[in-house]
Amino acid sequence: MVVLRARCLTVHEDEAMNEETQTYPLEPSPDQMRIMVDKAAERVIDHIASLPRQPASYDAHQVDMRARAGALAESLPERGTDLDGLLDLLFREAIPLSFNTAAPGYLAYIPGGGVFPSAVADFIANAVNRYVGVWIAAPGLAQLELNVVRWFCEIIGYPPSAGGILTSGGSLANFTAVVTARRERLPDDFLAGTIYTSDQTHHSLRKAAVLAGFPEENVREIATNENYEIRLDDLRRRIAEDREDGLRPFMLVTSAGTTSTGAVDDLDGAADVAEAEGLWLHVDAAYGGFFMLTERGRASMRGIERADSIVLDPHKGLFLPYGNGSLLVRDPEALRRAHTTFADYMPEMQQDTDLVDFCQISPELSRDFRGLRAWLPIKLFGIDAFRSSLDEKLDLAQWATDQLREVPDIEILAEPRLSLTAFLWAPAGYSEDGLNDLNRELLTCVNARQNVYITGTMLRGRYALRICVLSFRTHRDRMERCMVDIRECIEELSPA
Ligand SMILES: Cc1ncc(COP(=O)(O)O)c(C=O)c1O
Repeated sequence: MVVLRARCLTVHEDEAMNEETQTYPLEPSPDQMRIMVDKAAERVIDHIASLPRQPASYDAHQVDMRARAGALAESLPERGTDLDGLLDLLFREAIPLSFNTAAPGYLAYIPGGGVFPSAVADFIANAVNRYVGVWIAAPGLAQLELNVVRWFCEIIGYPPSAGGILTSGGSLANFTAVVTARRERLPDDFLAGTIYTSDQTHHSLRKAAVLAGFPEENVREIATNENYEIRLDDLRRRIAEDREDGLRPFMLVTSAGTTSTGAVDDLDGAADVAEAEGLWLHVDAAYGGFFMLTERGRASMRGIERADSIVLDPHKGLFLPYGNGSLLVRDPEALRRAHTTFADYMPEMQQDTDLVDFCQISPELSRDFRGLRAWLPIKLFGIDAFRSSLDEKLDLAQWATDQLREVPDIEILAEPRLSLTAFLWAPAGYSEDGLNDLNRELLTCVNARQNVYITGTMLRGRYALRICVLSFRTHRDRMERCMVDIRECIEELSPA
């Protein structure tokens, strides 16, 4: 029995079926496809329209997540189920059991939100299912994806000769950067190579180094100053010590927007060190990078364009859905040298540097046509719409920080360099552990109200709360709600 014919179509729709579809159930008729898309679109649009009224997260303290998730376990179905039932399951059971990462109240980790045209782009890309891994297979589409890479390079201030690759996220982009740096700067026997990060660098860098074959102890964590920026004096000292010990310093990783506090390293100063020491300079701007669209962001990240490689995550600062990262490089030939391989069964690869075979500059061969997810919204809205939204986020983070400062016993631990503020509630009379527990309780109380969802971090042994404003759907009304919830929770938790 044909799945769709069996259950989800009306008798009238059923008649629209043709003989072929009955023979080949994996090939729905045009009418069936329309019905499928309409049904899915209706659910999605209702879902998105109701986002501001939805809880910012399910309440992890109230819900038996294991039981609810476990109830969705199922055996391999031999026969089909109707689409309505499947959409019910998704939208009633599975999707609500989640952090509401698309909602305006999502201020946790690093949000993004997921602009709608990217979903349309994915629909088109998956439906036409073209192969963009090699240029010759879809030169027009490869060019559109290349346009996106060039736009990102322009945003960051790289020269037209720069290039890069779109990845599935920041972790893969950081990994590709470490492998590229290793192959550019070290011999095949590379185990003496050392990488310099700060104690605030995202943990994906350590993972990348290990995946790239380095012992974990080859990753140096340099201390940070009072603003959580890498201490360049300590960095120079450590490099000198390592050289004396016969090691080969080859890569310096700086951050443009750390995950804990949003700190931006002194990128110009770091570039001077990298230049003097002959290190590959990498900037992890997964969070901060797209703020280069704004004047304030450019002031914060001065010198970023001096880096050899930069990671930007469009699924953060460009508000794309998850699954979108990027690695930009000053010299695209470095990517090619690090990744090019040949096989007899492959088509001929391009020699012209303007015609890029993505498989020759990245770890992937077959992959999705991810460029469309950025291309469509940027073309539809224009980049200024993104710039304005990012400026709004900078304003909101500053506004929230000013509001928090007014709350008795709130200590701001990190002023927003970008759109992230870190703070703790520190009433007198508590030990350090006591304060950590109290702030965990504050976090639980705020999140239980389900208007916003925030997360915490450890900063020099102290548990801090963070507010990261980076969803295009977050506006002043939600931030006001957040402040009310924090104040009321503090009142609730204050000793009588
Ligand atoms: C600064 C920074 N770098 C890298 C990453 C890793 O990015 P992804 O989660 O896209 O792999 C993150 C993730 O939040 C991040 O904040």
